[in-house]
Amino acid sequence: MKKIRVGIFGATGYAGLNIFRILSNHPFVDLKYLSSHSNSGESYKKLFPSFNTDLVLGPTVPEVAEDLDACFIALPAGETSKFVIDLIKANNNIIVIDLGADFRFKEKEIYERTYNIKHNCPEILKESVYGLPEINREKIKTAKIIGNPGCYPTSVLLGLYPIIVNFKESIENIIADSKSGVSGAGRKIAKDYLFCEINESVKPYAARFHRHQPEMNEQIKLISSKAPDLIFTPHLIPMQRGILSTIYVFFKENLPGEETIKELYYEKYKNEMFIRVLDGDLPSTAMVKSSNLCAINICKTSDKTLKIFSAIDNLIKGASGQAVQNLNIIFDFPENLSLTNLPEVI
Ligand SMILES: NC(=O)c1ccc[n+]([C@@H]2O[C@H](COP(=O)([O-])OP(=O)(O)OC[C@H]3O[C@@H](n4cnc5c(N)ncnc54)[C@H](OP(=O)(O)O)[C@@H]3O)[C@@H](O)[C@H]2O)c1
Repeated sequence: MKKIRVGIFGATGYAGLNIFRILSNHPFVDLKYLSSHSNSGESYKKLFPSFNTDLVLGPTVPEVAEDLDACFIALPAGETSKFVIDLIKANNNIIVIDLGADFRFKEKEIYERTYNIKHNCPEILKESVYGLPEINREKIKTAKIIGNPGCYPTSVLLGLYPIIVNFKESIENIIADSKSGVSGAGRKIAKDYLFCEINESVKPYAARFHRHQPEMNEQIKLISSKAPDLIFTPHLIPMQRGILSTIYVFFKENLPGEETIKELYYEKYKNEMFIRVLDGDLPSTAMVKSSNLCAINICKTSDKTLKIFSAIDNLIKGASGQAVQNLNIIFDFPENLSLTNLPEVI
């Protein structure tokens, strides 16, 4: 099979580095272009000696699209929408998979309010597809622009999906309490993420409002317009990678038994190669570390309350792995190509 030519914009960040790592094992991808903001002109191998490549980092410019079939964009929010129109002008057939937030929302007002950034090309938002394959696979197959989901939303939405689909009218409240490793904040240098600030401590943040909350609400409402807005609190924990979400769902009516609810999960995810609905164990971040897996379990705690637990690696299923999964779907490759590695067990 002919290889596709792929570029990574933002190849020096945590998400971009992990895309490079995953694609290094991809038999149908020819990595052609890597960009950086502050290290343009540097050899990639010099910056990351364990990556054996002759590629030299270039700037984040649209004209390189001419020589690419697909690109991953792993830049801070707002940067993609500044140059994506010119990127598409340079190559009208290019597939764009954006790991930032610029193409996750259908309504530009919600994006602009959430990120406090003006969207530079709202006219193409309607063409973009929210890249959560377990929910949107059919739309992803024909998409040209993917808004790859945020890390917290991936863990919460996959945990909630069978419940929202099956109990549309009867959900009273949803509370999601998520814990994330520090890599979720990216590779930038900031006081809050210094070792001494993080180590031996756990703390909530963005408690009043987190920017992933509108993203989750929009997606939940697309499944059921009757579902309530979710209450969400993220926590930073002294760990490099991983997200564990504990989701409390309160119902208006009595629930069926726990095993019946569990069957809904087995049924919904029976053909999903990256979802592990656990039998007995509760999910942990260690269980999914460095893999594209999402581990889920549930626990009915009263007639009208359910706890859902969902664990992912924020950098893989929450970012780069999911992005490669989307690439595989769009190009009709096996969906798990180069994503089959098992979690690191220790
Ligand atoms: N980290 C996660 O767990 C995660 C999960 C899901 C989604 N995401 C999203 O994925 C994107 C990348 O995240 P990340 O964690 O990889 O961030 P990161 O580690 O901070 O990397 C950011 C990348 O963007 C480049 N960059 C920074 N400012 C730029 C600018 N003004 N113009 C062009 N390029 C710029 C950086 O280049 P240099 O450093 O070489 O200058 C670097 O390559 C973000 O939108 C993030 O929200 C991240």
